[in-house]
Amino acid sequence: PALERLVRTMPKAELHIHIEGSLEPELIFVLAQRNGVSLPYPSVEALRAAYAFTDLQSFLDIYYAGAGVLVTEQDFFDMAWAYLERARADGITRAEIFFDPQTHTERGVPFSTVIGGLARACDEARGALGVNAALILCFLRHLSEEAALATLEQALPYRDRFIGVGLDSSEVGHPPEKFARVFAKARDLGLRRVAHAGEEGPPAYIRSALDVLHAERIDHGVQSLKDPALVARLKAERIPLTVCPLSNVKLCVFEDLSRHNLRELLDAGLVAMINSDDPAYFGGYLNRNFVETFAALGLDAGHAYRLARNGFEASFATPEEKAADI
Ligand code: HPA
Ligand code: ZN
Repeated sequence: PALERLVRTMPKAELHIHIEGSLEPELIFVLAQRNGVSLPYPSVEALRAAYAFTDLQSFLDIYYAGAGVLVTEQDFFDMAWAYLERARADGITRAEIFFDPQTHTERGVPFSTVIGGLARACDEARGALGVNAALILCFLRHLSEEAALATLEQALPYRDRFIGVGLDSSEVGHPPEKFARVFAKARDLGLRRVAHAGEEGPPAYIRSALDVLHAERIDHGVQSLKDPALVARLKAERIPLTVCPLSNVKLCVFEDLSRHNLRELLDAGLVAMINSDDPAYFGGYLNRNFVETFAALGLDAGHAYRLARNGFEASFATPEEKAADI
C-alpha cells in the first residue's frame, strides 16, 4: 500500500544489471527467427521452464546459450532498449549496465557491433526516457587473463563509451588475483573498477578484489558477514555492496527470501543496495526485487530511503549527474 507505493516510485539507481540477463525469452525467439539461429527449445514456455537453477554455473550455462541469438548492432540496441524502458517504469534514474563482450566476440561478433548497439541505446535513453545510463565492461573470469587483456585492447578505440570494468561469471576457482594485471591496466586508463565477489565465493575473494584489483564496489558481497573483520573494513571504507536478492534465491545462495541477510548488512552499517542482476532469468526487475524483499524481511520506509540513498552514493555518476538523477 503506502510503503509499496513509496518503494515503487522513489528514484533509484541500479548498479548491478547484466544486459544479457535482461534478454527475455520472447525476445530470444524474435532474434533467433530474425537471425536464422536455431534454438534447442520449441517454445517460449519451454525455454522459460528450463530456468530452474541449482547454483551459479547451472544458470550461466543457459545464460550464455541465450545470448547466442545476438548478432547485429540492432539486436544489442533492442535488448538494451527493452531494459531501459523497464528501468524507467521502475523509477530508475541512473543505470550502470554490465556487458560481457567475450560472450559475443568468441562467436565472431565484432566488439564494435556489441558496444555500438548498447551505447546508442544508452545515449537515446537520456532524452527519450529520462534514464541516465552508462556501460561497464565485464571480463569473464572462467577465461584467461590474456583473453581479458585482449578484450581491453579491443575496447580502447571505444574508451569514451564505457566508464569502467567488472569481473563476472564462474566465481569459485577463479579468484580476483587471476586478473591483477588487466585491472591495473584499466586503472591506469582511468576506468572505474568493480568485481563480483562473495556471491558463492569466500570472504577472501572480497578482500582480494579490494586489495589486488582495487575494486571500488563489490557485486553481491553477501558472504562478507562470515568475516567480522572484513565487515568492519567495508563499513569504515564505505565500500558499496550491490546486492541482488531474487538472484541469490534463484541460485540457491539463500534458501528463500526470508532468509536473505540484507537486513543484517544494513544493520551492520554497510552501503548495501538492491539490484536485479539478471531480471529475465531470476523472476523480476528492480521493483519486484524491492517489493518482494521488503515483504519477506519486513523492511520499512527508513530502509527504503537508505537503500535508495546508498545506490546513489555508490553510483559512478559525476556530482552534477547525481544532483540531476535524484
Ligand atoms: N554472477 C556471476 N556472473 C554473472 C552473474 C552473476 O550473478 N550474472 C551474469 N553473470
Ligand atoms: Zn551479477
